[in-house]
Amino acid sequence: MALRKMWLNINGAERIIVCNPEVDSLAAVLRRIGLTGTKIGCNCGQCGACSVILNGDVVRSCIKKMKTMQDYAKITTIEGIGTPENLHPIQMAWITYGGVQCGFCSPGFIVSAYALLQKNLSPSRQEVREWFYKHRNICRCTGYKPLVDATMAAAEVMRGEKTMGEITYREPENGRIYGTAYPKPTALAKVTGLCDFGDDIGIKMPPGTLHLAVVIPDAAHAYIKGIDVADAEKMPGVVKVITAKDIPGSNLIPQGFSHARSKVDRFLRPILCDKKIFRYGDIVALVAARTKEEARAAARKVSVELEKLPVYMTMPEALSPDAMQIHEGIPNQYVIQPLFKGKDTEDIFKDAPYIVEGSFYSSREPHLPVEPDTMQAYIDEEDRLTIQCKSQHIYAHRNVLAEALGLDPEKVRVIENPTGASFGSAMTPSSPILVAAAALVLKKPVSLTLSYQEHTYFSGKRAPSYTNARLACDENGKMIALEFDHAVEMGAYPEMTGSMISKCVRYIGYPYYIPNIKGLGRLGFSNASYCIAYRAFGSPQAYTASEALVSMMADKIGMDQLEFRRINAAQPGETNNTNVPYRCYTMKQLLDMLKPYYIDAKERCARLSTPEKKRGVGIAAGGYHAGLSNDTAKVELELNEDGGVTIYNSWEDQGQGADAGSIVHVHEALRPIGIKPEQIKLVMNDTAQVPPSGPAAGSRSHYMVGNAILDASSKLLNAMKKDDGTYRTYEEMVAEEIATRYQGSFTTVGTTTAHDPNTGHGDLAPEDMFTTYMAEVEVDTKSGKTTVLSMKSACDIGVIGQILGVEGQAYGGASHSIGFALSEDYNDFKKHASMVGAGIPSILDIPDDFDFMFLETPRKSGPHGSSGSSECFQNNGHMAVINAIYDAVGVRIYDLPAKPEKIKAALEAKEKGIELKPNKYFFGNSFEEMVAEIKADPK
Ligand code: FES
Ligand code: FES
Repeated sequence: MALRKMWLNINGAERIIVCNPEVDSLAAVLRRIGLTGTKIGCNCGQCGACSVILNGDVVRSCIKKMKTMQDYAKITTIEGIGTPENLHPIQMAWITYGGVQCGFCSPGFIVSAYALLQKNLSPSRQEVREWFYKHRNICRCTGYKPLVDATMAAAEVMRGEKTMGEITYREPENGRIYGTAYPKPTALAKVTGLCDFGDDIGIKMPPGTLHLAVVIPDAAHAYIKGIDVADAEKMPGVVKVITAKDIPGSNLIPQGFSHARSKVDRFLRPILCDKKIFRYGDIVALVAARTKEEARAAARKVSVELEKLPVYMTMPEALSPDAMQIHEGIPNQYVIQPLFKGKDTEDIFKDAPYIVEGSFYSSREPHLPVEPDTMQAYIDEEDRLTIQCKSQHIYAHRNVLAEALGLDPEKVRVIENPTGASFGSAMTPSSPILVAAAALVLKKPVSLTLSYQEHTYFSGKRAPSYTNARLACDENGKMIALEFDHAVEMGAYPEMTGSMISKCVRYIGYPYYIPNIKGLGRLGFSNASYCIAYRAFGSPQAYTASEALVSMMADKIGMDQLEFRRINAAQPGETNNTNVPYRCYTMKQLLDMLKPYYIDAKERCARLSTPEKKRGVGIAAGGYHAGLSNDTAKVELELNEDGGVTIYNSWEDQGQGADAGSIVHVHEALRPIGIKPEQIKLVMNDTAQVPPSGPAAGSRSHYMVGNAILDASSKLLNAMKKDDGTYRTYEEMVAEEIATRYQGSFTTVGTTTAHDPNTGHGDLAPEDMFTTYMAEVEVDTKSGKTTVLSMKSACDIGVIGQILGVEGQAYGGASHSIGFALSEDYNDFKKHASMVGAGIPSILDIPDDFDFMFLETPRKSGPHGSSGSSECFQNNGHMAVINAIYDAVGVRIYDLPAKPEKIKAALEAKEKGIELKPNKYFFGNSFEEMVAEIKADPK
């Protein structure tokens, strides 16, 4: 290996470095010398997380090879822009304007914005957008608009038109921070590049830490005939190649779900596959070596002998009559949930004045966090196997890991690393268990960072869905009956089955009142990625069918799209799909809030459409439940010696703002004793230190953890209260031997129920949230390309606790919906295994004319009137886009995503008088046969 010595001017100082010019990238060198503010996401020039300024220009340092660098080149990294004590205006603006969610992209964006403002101190918003586009800066969390807001605000300070104070969060005079834009306390480390994410921790682990690489065979369905590790074990630096036979315990990850109509109630998934490959991305071996590079080089030498099997890429293929069972002994369709509400729909459809029907497909959407999966494991000073990872459910993962590896759960500790987002994909323990097993086998600390491709192969995805459905209306346009056969493809493993099967029947038809429904939710396997949680889990699939039918029906009746939804929105007392009243009835008001924008957009589209560029407006309505059934959250609150408090919880923070959320809840609950926000200390997301607060999922955290904080606060306040109404100090509490630490809890056990296995009825969640969307699009009739020009939304999630967090979920969620509608897919395992290949939206794909209006209807059971947040924003927005395409060019896209070539083909077919649409999906038996079978077999 020939090395080169170089002098580089980094952040104003000349530094000597030694590198391998043929191999090293500038990013790798910067990170090696400790400047880990320069992040690596894609590592191939697609995301801008590694942006630095080189001799005045922004470069993506992951693709800047050291052999092309000159001595004394001038480099500015995020660490050279500002420090926590001396923030640059851009960094402050990023904190104040919601530029930081997970914060993984923040250093790259801030560096890029800094370079822009060095060249042009007065850019227009569009110039800012074009700059970030040109430099490939990708943010998956924020929906981009807050980043433009932040850049514009920073420019005002830099031009001397505003002071730093004016772009810094200021507490309101009444001292109440609940409901304000209280910024995330963890944002400071993120905007200065000082926050260590998983791979940064991996680089900084003590000497002796081994680095892992994974072996993923090139197959989607095959028997494993042999794994030869001999050559790999001879490679330099290799300590061991771990295969299934080395794993202590069962080598099986238990996945349990109870459902009366399931063909399997406990599924065991291999940690490392040894008999069979079930999907592309299965791992058969882990190579442990002194360095990451050595481990990767050796992983390429592991050879796997395979006997290839037929590959079922879709659930309908896996349900064809001659398909083999993907998991021996379990049918490829393994669970079913019926929904029967009101009268039998058959007679109603016979006589209904208006009927629309169709078959709809929603795609295998990849989560695409900018940070790939990354984790460490080691034995801590109390002899616990300790795993640091991106987990969204640290206690559940601790318990699963312990069971799979044959350990006492008390001897396993799971800690959430600062996380570059996951959007749901970190609900599985399947990656943390890799490092846990390796640390046990090797008896050494280990670190693993998957490449972006490996991360995409290995991680779960949003499950595709295949739906046949029809809707009937009476002569006044009121919905009278719905039928659906909704099949969701869980891929190779039944992760989150219990939750998904429930979502299958809840949301087709939400938020309307439909008196008579006959529906089936079916889950089945394929040889594609397994399904995992993704924001608004299970509902975008449902709305893909129902919000298409709703639009088709409005057109059929000749009624306005918004008005048709308005007259069918549920009214107080009317029931939802699962036959219980909604918790709140504000959909009509939300549609009224949207109406003026809709009228304007309709007028604008009519005026500005041309034969080449046609414009259209689409509406969609929906929502999601906040919280889960039979759910419990616990927290602890402690009064500190200095008069402040410490909150202990496991509100996992994937970037959504668990830090600020915890603070605003505690601050609000403890207003009687006048605690200041800076007196609230956070101890979070470490099973050795905090009680179980449940998963960061299902829009439950703000609601559940908030209510548990209220409980703990009330216990603490009661203990502190004196007879005269004043409160004891810490010293007085200690002197009187009164406890200073209290556990609070909240549960939905007793207030929610599961589905009835025969009817689907049930009260599944403690609160409802509602969302409406309007999208205005332009379709290029030659290329078929759709551009979303504007997006407006009116939503109701109750009283808002922390506006930056809510807006972050709103803009971010809606931007994913635009991607889901137009570009995102993971159908080709290799081509779609990068951010660009999978269709991640750039800043120019997301409109800047993008607004949310909030109706804050206080929720009776919510903490301070709040409910949830996240899932409210990513459930139906994609259908506003799809409906807008229809409005623009008169073609309906039944199978997502609506890529240009699909729209072009549909337009060409339309010219010939043909409508392109899928045939009715077939799932091995017909809807009627399945319904009859269920009715004949009550559970
Ligand atoms: Fe360098 Fe993505 S562009 S890490
Ligand atoms: Fe931009 Fe998370 S804040 S990727």
